[in-house]
Order: sequence, then C-alpha cells, then structure tokens
Amino acid sequence: MKLPVILTCVLFLSLAAAATEASSPVPPKGYSAWKKSDRKVVTDKNSLFYGIHYIYADKKAQRGYLDGNKFAEGSRIVVEFFTIKDNPAVDGPKNMIVLMQKDKRQMATGGWLFAGFGADGKSSGLDPATTCFGCHKQEAAQRDFVISTRKDFKSL
Ligand code: HEC
Repeated sequence: MKLPVILTCVLFLSLAAAATEASSPVPPKGYSAWKKSDRKVVTDKNSLFYGIHYIYADKKAQRGYLDGNKFAEGSRIVVEFFTIKDNPAVDGPKNMIVLMQKDKRQMATGGWLFAGFGADGKSSGLDPATTCFGCHKQEAAQRDFVISTRKDFKSL
C-alpha cells in the first residue's frame, strides 16, 4: 500500500527539481566566442563595477547594437568580471558573470531576462527586478534597457 505513495512522491519531487532547473538560467555556453567589447577597467573601489570587465554580444545582439540598441527576441549579452589583484593591467581572478536575454515573457523586467552568477556559474541570488532592472531602467530606458552601445565594441 505504501509503495505507490512513495513512488508518487519521488516522481513529484524529481519533476519539481526538473522544473526548477529549467527555470533557473545558466551562463550561455560558448559566449567567449561572441563579439567581445574593449577591456574596461574601473578603479573606483566604491563602484559596483570595481575591477575589469568585458561585454560579449551574440549575433542577434550585435545586430541590436548596430540598430542603435533595438534588440530582437532571443538576443543575448554577457558581462564577465575580473578582480584587480595588484596591477590593473592584468586580469585578476574571475568573480562574476551577468546575463541579459531578450525574452518577451519577462514583462516585469522590460522584456529581458536578467541573471547574475558567481565565477562558478551558480546563481548569485541577486533579485532581477529590484537590483538589476532597477538600475538598467534608470540608466537606459530609452535604449531598450541596454546601457552599453555600439561604441563599446571597437570591431562592430
Ligand atoms: C547600479 C547599476 C547596475 C546594476 C544594479 C546592474 N547593472 Fe548591469 N550594467 C550597469 C552598467 C553601468 C553597465 C554598462 C557597463 C559598461 O558599459 O561597461 C551594465 C551592463 C550590463 C550588461 C551588458 C549590457 C548593457 O546593458 O550594457 C548586462 C548583461 C548586465 N549589465 C546585466 C546585469 C544583471 C543581470 C544585473 C543584476 C544581477 C545587473 N546588470 C545589475 C549597471 C548596473
């Protein structure tokens, strides 16, 4: 009598785990082969961006930058952050990755999925609506919430 109940529970739990996995984003594979921005160094320790960072844009996002920041569904932009160890001319260890992916279902965050990760690719737990979108909306409401522009990519 008990076995079917247990089996049902196990099945339910594994389905729940699969659903969570599907809905929690991961850093896109192969983004290091996308179009890469110039190297950016922020030496102000009070800045959220203290350190070194590079922006990566996939094919669709490159188009979006070329169109004056109008991005098509599915466009993906990644930023990779590195700490400054001693010398700002050298990238220290990687410490953060952030992702924006154009997704019309994400209505609360301007039609973009925002996600932050640690260097290990695990979610950094920052709230997309208040933390990420809050700042992007303030900085770039007229540019599809994307703060960087074509000028950040020398070769675009
Ligand atoms: C305090 C303001 C602020 C917060 C909070 C913030 N960002 Fe940004 N973000 C910026 C700025 C400024 C840039 C542009 C950096 C540059 O030009 O080098 C940027 C750039 C980006 C980019 C590259 C595309 C673009 O808009 O230029 C992505 C992707 C991104 N942020 C994702 C996120 C995610 C995900 C979060 C939350 C985990 C987040 N950001 C939180 C200010 C912020």
